[in-house]
Formats: sequence, C-alpha cells, structure tokens
Amino acid sequence: MPRFVPAAKLSHLEEGKGTIVSVEGIKIALFLCEGTVFAIKNQCPHMGGDLGEGLLTGEVVRCPWHGWRFSVRTGMMPETDVVGVRTYEVKIDGDDVLIGV
Ligand code: FES
Repeated sequence: MPRFVPAAKLSHLEEGKGTIVSVEGIKIALFLCEGTVFAIKNQCPHMGGDLGEGLLTGEVVRCPWHGWRFSVRTGMMPETDVVGVRTYEVKIDGDDVLIGV
C-alpha cells in the first residue's frame, strides 16, 4: 500500500506539458492530460534523459535526448511492452497532487 506524499499544486501544472518534481529524493515527471494527472519516473531508461522535459503528444512523451517514447499512463513504450519506466499512483486532494511512493 503506497504512502501518498504531496508533490505539486494542480493549479501549477500545465495541460499537455511535463513538470519535474522531487519526492523523497526521487525525480518524478508529472503530466496533465485532458484534466488527468499522470506520474512516471523522470529518468529515461536509455541514457537518463529528463522525460519531464519531453514533448507530450496525447498521452505519449518523447524523450528530449534520443526520442524514445513512453505512455505516461502505462509507462511502457508504445512500440513494445518490454521497455518502460515506473509509474506512480496519483491522488488529487483539492489543489494538492499526491504521489504514491
Ligand atoms: S536518454 Fe532517452 S532516448 Fe536516450
């Protein structure tokens, strides 16, 4: 059972853009997609690019370094279900975005 920790303010997130936060020393990328917040590990499994700085198209973010793509909903690459990044549970409490760690 995850513990939910405040990570950001919902009103500070931009639709269709990533935001990198640090939760207990872990960098997490938050994405607001059509009103839903998704959270994935910020570090790309290829060579460590910041996924939170990647271009978001729908629910897929493209790593800014070499272009690997990940679903922000599942953490998996759309092309394969073998490579992916960790996802985190998200809860919204008023304006607080809580991440399950
Ligand atoms: S570091 Fe992300 S694709 Fe290379």
